[in-house]
Amino acid sequence: MSDRRSLLVLNGPNLNLLGTRKPETYGHATLADVEAQVRDAAAAHDLDVQFVQSNHEGALLDAIHAARGVHAGIVINPGAYSHTSIALPDALEAVQPMPVVEVHISNVHRREAFRHHSYVSAQADAVIIGAGVHGYTLAVEHLARLLTEG
Ligand code: DQA
Repeated sequence: MSDRRSLLVLNGPNLNLLGTRKPETYGHATLADVEAQVRDAAAAHDLDVQFVQSNHEGALLDAIHAARGVHAGIVINPGAYSHTSIALPDALEAVQPMPVVEVHISNVHRREAFRHHSYVSAQADAVIIGAGVHGYTLAVEHLARLLTEG
């Protein structure tokens, strides 16, 4: 087995529709484009990536649990579950001290009030909001830095 470290990049509900879903809000890049961008950013830091998208909260929980001992850090865009799920932050807390960066493509603070609070943020080392899909690259850069600096 390679001892190269890897990141888990998790995308929640509806993010499989990136590129066609509300492009004025989320842009034109598809999730496949995001995956390619994330893999390039990670490779530049000698990091592998496991890329997971699910529309099911339980599948996201299973992926977080399985990350323990396998991945060195997590990037998560929980989609709408950010605003509703207690189980997701509980799962992230359970796999601490793994570093976690939460990403939101859109600036949720410019949107409806129900998007202004994320339960997940309390378990994130950093939160990147409103940078478009570039936010995923920023998240990888930040994790790489955390993993290097310890
Ligand atoms: C999102 C913001 C959420 O409010 C929304 O439900 C999403 C995407 C974002 O990336 O901007 O599905 O997480």
